[in-house]
Amino acid sequence: MKKLWGGRFTKTAEEWVDEFGASIPFDQELVEEDIEGSLAHVTMLGECGILPEDDVEQIKGGLIRLLEKAKQGELEFSIAYEDIHLNIEKMLIDDIGPVGGKLHTGRSRNDQVATDMHLYLRKRVEEILGLIRGLQRALVAQAEKHVETIMPGYTHLQRAQPISFAHHLLAYFWMLERDYERFSESQKRINRSPLGAGALAGTTFPIDRHRTAELLGFADLYENSLDAVSDRDFIIEFLSNSSMLMMHLSRLAEELILWSSQEFQFIELDDAFATGSSIMPQKKNPDMAELIRGKTGRVYGHLMALLTVMKGLPLAYNKDMQEDKEGMFDTVKTVIGSLKIFTGMIETMNVRTDVMERATKQDFSNATELADYLAAKGMPFREAHEVVGKLVLLCIEKGVFLADLPLDVYKEASPLFDADIYDALNPRTAVNRRNSAGGTGFAEVRAALEKAKEKLNTP
Ligand code: ARG
Repeated sequence: MKKLWGGRFTKTAEEWVDEFGASIPFDQELVEEDIEGSLAHVTMLGECGILPEDDVEQIKGGLIRLLEKAKQGELEFSIAYEDIHLNIEKMLIDDIGPVGGKLHTGRSRNDQVATDMHLYLRKRVEEILGLIRGLQRALVAQAEKHVETIMPGYTHLQRAQPISFAHHLLAYFWMLERDYERFSESQKRINRSPLGAGALAGTTFPIDRHRTAELLGFADLYENSLDAVSDRDFIIEFLSNSSMLMMHLSRLAEELILWSSQEFQFIELDDAFATGSSIMPQKKNPDMAELIRGKTGRVYGHLMALLTVMKGLPLAYNKDMQEDKEGMFDTVKTVIGSLKIFTGMIETMNVRTDVMERATKQDFSNATELADYLAAKGMPFREAHEVVGKLVLLCIEKGVFLADLPLDVYKEASPLFDADIYDALNPRTAVNRRNSAGGTGFAEVRAALEKAKEKLNTP
């Protein structure tokens, strides 16, 4: 089939070669952005007197018809026209005749594709920001119910010190807050117009780049035409921000998976977010959390892939850059899906407060309380640590916990011990006393909840 760029060619490629080079199977995702970009471009061409108004009106009419059809999913794309840009141009010419061929005046597919990608990401990042807020809201809602729910806190996945469950949930709130900041700061770089950079060098036509930028809602322009058409930093940044977000989701997913195991039983996921086994009738598997943990891998992969695609490219556009798309589309889909699922999972999970609290009484995670107790009475902390370490050893030998040792054993270990140690050993007291800034004490967690809610209320 004759190509739109076929003038200097004497023969056409075979179909399978065309197929290898085509991006239309995936870049049709950009159809609306592509038409919106063209509408701005042709409007500007008219305003600058580059095309007569009559041509502009015909082209706009055709583009608007195509946009409507695109929104209804009624356009049929063809491999023969390689990519979304040429497919749309061909459809326009088929609809309004040769005048459609004037649309591409003063423009190249190189600045066009860059424009499409900027418009596309701007919209998706906006959606992702809203979904991050949604998940943060779900975390805050659960945290509000569980300020005084205590659970073992872990380091090295060994019981360390008891904490408030709300405190644990809010740790993720703040990770997501940083993700929110990163995505929203990236909009500054996404929201910049490459349109009018031409193939690489600008154009001889008296175009107005500020006008197209304004029509498309861009806040700024690329300063340099070569940079404009060959920059994919904004996509790499998106993939990097997405990787970080997925890493956070994956960590929480891992915790949900552990917590819903028979060994922990701290939570039960709602039936809507779990699946059964085809052979083992008793099973309830945390599939959605596992999948999110798994999908994190593919997002990291897309980041690595694009960094690698870009690393050796000379200026300006190279066809290698067509490889920026599938990873980006897949990441958008993965991140949006994961955030939606996660929000539902957090909203509906059932928290076994009794099991969590019981767990805090069946370990040595109150040992620090005893050492702090002695240190507060003047014993150097290092010595206190040693005294308590010996008591823990004694307990292990006897098969009991610290709260089970009688007072005379304590007195023997150090005369500084008094009857009030039993209150200090109570995990609830241990949690509630940690009111240093950002700590797990109930008062501090309540204050943190207020701060979190303030963040949610500021746009
Ligand atoms: N399909 C191409 C891409 O996605 C569009 C730009 C092509 N430009 C070119 N000169 N071949 O990168």
